[in-house]
Amino acid sequence: MTIYEMQKEILRLKKENDVCILAHSYQGREIIEIADIVGDSFALSEKARGVKQKTILMCGVRFMAETAKLLSPDKKVLLANASAGCPMAEQFNKDDILKIKKDYPGICVVCYINTTAELKTVCDVCVTSSSALRIVKKLPQKDILFIPDINLGTYIKNSLPEKNIILLNGGCPVHSSVREQEVLDAKKLHPDALLLVHPECREEVARYADIIGSTADIISYAKNSDKKEFIIGTEISIVEYLQFECHDKSFYPLSTKICCNDMKATTLADVLNSIKGINTEEIILDKDTMDKAVRCINKMIEM
Ligand code: 13P
Ligand code: SF4
Repeated sequence: MTIYEMQKEILRLKKENDVCILAHSYQGREIIEIADIVGDSFALSEKARGVKQKTILMCGVRFMAETAKLLSPDKKVLLANASAGCPMAEQFNKDDILKIKKDYPGICVVCYINTTAELKTVCDVCVTSSSALRIVKKLPQKDILFIPDINLGTYIKNSLPEKNIILLNGGCPVHSSVREQEVLDAKKLHPDALLLVHPECREEVARYADIIGSTADIISYAKNSDKKEFIIGTEISIVEYLQFECHDKSFYPLSTKICCNDMKATTLADVLNSIKGINTEEIILDKDTMDKAVRCINKMIEM
């Protein structure tokens, strides 16, 4: 089957089987084209709530499918490729956090959305890279434990000196693979380009950025800017995505190392098989995990 034939079949079957396809913007173009909702972690978690279809098919990684399940408990939620996980989401477990809470009574635990549903059960509020600064700023507590990403956490800590933010040594292995020298090389190669960087990158990289922002911030800044050239410091698919969207501008990857194999694991064939119910995984969470984990996501949406 060609890509076009697969896409046509997916479009037919999703209607017939009442399936809503969600795709994170790091997915390949061929998947973005057949999705009902495309966006960053925040957009997906917000929009997943109100969809009318009975089944949600997530093209992304496991924590995103879990988030969709938490927000749509009565729907069937499928993960298009069951092997797609986010390494950062699994860096800490419940017991690590419970121990810290015991040592720092009253501390507010803020988790990045890139965490497992199980870990969310012991956290107070969840944030995405788009909402992190706004939410942490608004929290009444001064003492905050931010998990798991030390780079996003450092960015929040530097932006909000009035808070006492404790960080653990976790992070995205993909974004944090870029080092300062690659920034210097990219800037030398493209001296007129603006540098847009995701806060999951190291501070030694983010320091050179013209704009630090989430995937959605980077996309919207590049689209609306009068500038013509941009170095993109986030997952490489965003370079491709922006080049499709803005034909009159040029986009360069900060480093070709920022390529997430987990985000790239999902293929069009996986999507087609999942819609047919072949070789797909339904997300099942027990009631206690659902009840406790959803609280911190609802708190994020409320704030
Ligand atoms: P956002 O979609 O929140 O920008 O996060 C980037 C990311 O790494 C998703 O896994
Ligand atoms: Fe996880 Fe990083 Fe991949 Fe995002 S890019 S899914 S944070 S490993």
